Amino acid sequence: MDTPITTSPAATTSAGTASAGTSRAERRSFLARTLADPRRMGAVTPTGRAAAARMAAVVPDRGRPAVLELGAGTGVLSRAILARMPDGGRLVAVESDPALVEYLHRTSPQLEVAAADAAELERVLDEAGIDRADAVVCSLPLTVMTAVERRRVLSAAARRLTPAGAFVAITYRPAWAARGLRADMADVFGRVERTPTIWANVPPARLLLGRGPRPC
Ligand SMILES: C[S@@+](CC[C@H](N)C(=O)[O-])C[C@H]1O[C@@H](n2cnc3c(N)ncnc32)[C@H](O)[C@@H]1O
Repeated sequence: MDTPITTSPAATTSAGTASAGTSRAERRSFLARTLADPRRMGAVTPTGRAAAARMAAVVPDRGRPAVLELGAGTGVLSRAILARMPDGGRLVAVESDPALVEYLHRTSPQLEVAAADAAELERVLDEAGIDRADAVVCSLPLTVMTAVERRRVLSAAARRLTPAGAFVAITYRPAWAARGLRADMADVFGRVERTPTIWANVPPARLLLGRGPRPC
């Protein structure tokens, strides 16, 4: 059965604890990378706990799921995914910023990090020996990327998801400003849903969930 992304214990987290899953040092490291490369980062602070838990809810909590994370940053979503992951599951976290790859190696040595561009996700999966992913958790700045870059990532993700797999993306844009992203997702997923605004995040966020990959 599909795992809903709108139900999670953390969904009731108050706005005051939105960044409770990250230390001050982590938020500082994140902000430093945003100042260095704002377009690549697309955010000023790591994803908050409530949104992270809702995104991680697409990860099957049974079996031995293979999960691909796109844009690991300082690892806040990686931790939420690993907290949900059953024994025997596998997470591969893709990050293209060398400074953040180094940060992840230093702070989360147990995390399997692929230093790569998300557009190369099929090569990353091949090298990891993973044929299909059960979930793709994406916090790339998809609405900031060019349409060509975004479609490349979305179609590669759809090609490599299992038929029952799920793709979840976070966006800070209101619905009208994210309609290009939603339309691109609808090209490669049979069903696309959007959550209500998650106010317990800085800035408030929405999630887009794609299911029913249409490999193309
Ligand atoms: C909004 S941050 C999210 C970081 C973290 N996952 C979180 O939720 O706080 C976006 C991340 O995607 C990474 N990124 C941006 N473009 C990328 C690309 N084409 N390939 C891989 N990573 C990318 C950035 O370096 C940054 O770490």
